[in-house]
Amino acid sequence: TETDLQNVHDLLISIAMEGGKTMLSAEHEFLIAASTKNNTSDLVTKYDSQIEAMVESRTQAAYPHFGFLGEETFKHGTKLLDTPTFVCDPIDGTLNFSKGVPNCAISLALTLNKKPVVGIVYNPFRGDLYTAIKNRGAFLTKISSPSSSTEMQKEKKFKLPLHPIPPPMPSLNTCLIALEWGNQRSGPNWSLRTSVHNTLLTAQSEGGAMCKSIRSNGSAALDFCYVAQGSLDAYWEGGVWIWDVCAGWCILEEAGGMVAGANPGDWEPGLEGRTYFAVRAAKIEEQVGVVEAVWGIMG
Ligand code: IPD
Repeated sequence: TETDLQNVHDLLISIAMEGGKTMLSAEHEFLIAASTKNNTSDLVTKYDSQIEAMVESRTQAAYPHFGFLGEETFKHGTKLLDTPTFVCDPIDGTLNFSKGVPNCAISLALTLNKKPVVGIVYNPFRGDLYTAIKNRGAFLTKISSPSSSTEMQKEKKFKLPLHPIPPPMPSLNTCLIALEWGNQRSGPNWSLRTSVHNTLLTAQSEGGAMCKSIRSNGSAALDFCYVAQGSLDAYWEGGVWIWDVCAGWCILEEAGGMVAGANPGDWEPGLEGRTYFAVRAAKIEEQVGVVEAVWGIMG
């Protein structure tokens, strides 16, 4: 019910604040120790594991019958079910986090029937809290003093609905696009990323390159939120996982954006599809136009 979703949303915000404090507690470690998972760009720190354990225990204590899918405890082959499931990326952008680049976030979501219905993305280094509940809009709340637990009680916040009219986006060449590199350095995903990157920057269209420029911010969750707030026009990536995108997906859709698949023709990507194209423009035709233009250069 609506009340249940509101309660889940409130719980996930409180958990995100606690996770954010843990992330901030590492702020003064110059380089945060990280272990590699599959290769040198696929990392985990003690903070990822600690935050995920806290998220799992708090969500399971409040909702013992709900499922839980988290990046650090995920077992290959586990499938998302129709029943309510918490999806957790304790730190999205672990590589940034480990090097002190303040573009990383805790990303928490609830799915129902394999669709995101609550999304919370919190970057404690900027005090940016993005929140959404399905059919109830997306919001950005600025948290002014997130680092001290006593100040947390009387923090100053302001909340803005994510609905500014994005600037006109008549074609791809007016777009600022995020294209991430993921953590694979070989195989089909890698060749596709490099060739799309290359084509977007080098192919000519009217008056210059095919798009305004490309950014690789290092956090899929925040890329979704930046598209939702109109800072980016689009985000394209293949190879990410459900926990990287689930919360951001809910936020983007509630802000009026759409998610397609990164591969040509995929207008209805599933949460587990691992390839995504997020876009938001004033008009639906513009969103469709940008997706088709990028698919068009993929050959
Ligand atoms: C990563 C980030 C990155 C994306 C990778 C993800 P993690 O998440 O979202 O932007 O390119 O594919 O794995 O591992 O830092 O949670």
